[in-house]
Amino acid sequence: MGFVRKLKKEGLNEMEISRICVDLVIAAGDTTSVTKQWMLYLLCKNPHVLDEYRSVLDDKEEEQKFSRGIVKETLRMYPIAALASRIFPNDCELGGYLIPATEFTPNDLTSNLEHLYYISYY
Ligand code: HEM
Repeated sequence: MGFVRKLKKEGLNEMEISRICVDLVIAAGDTTSVTKQWMLYLLCKNPHVLDEYRSVLDDKEEEQKFSRGIVKETLRMYPIAALASRIFPNDCELGGYLIPATEFTPNDLTSNLEHLYYISYY
């Protein structure tokens, strides 16, 4: 059954369905296509990584591990949903760090490029 028909059958009205569709186009389309473009850009800028990636293509397990690493590094350097932050209603511990109530969590755009924690390539 088609997606829209299924939503209609669930009792959603046209406005709700169109909002869900727009949400999915924005959430799924831009995120993955822009990330893929950054990924290709980074591979071209780092031909030694591309060569290494080519060398593991025949080994499915290694290829998947390598692909995952490429995607993670791309999302670290060019996070597509960088400004998604949170305010904590209560004090909370995350990875050994105390996040005080009402504090904004840092956004990826700055924290992911913190030279203290990552090697700088550029
Ligand atoms: C590189 C790929 C993607 C990234 C980095 C990404 C990132 C995110 C982030 C950070 C949020 C949480 C936003 C917030 O609550 O503040 C989110 C929510 C969401 N994403 Fe993605 N996303 C990606 C791909 C996709 C794809 C492919 C789909 C759908 C097929 C999708 C559907 C959604 C939806 C529906 C939500 C809202 C969930 C909710 O109701 O809380 N995303 N995404």
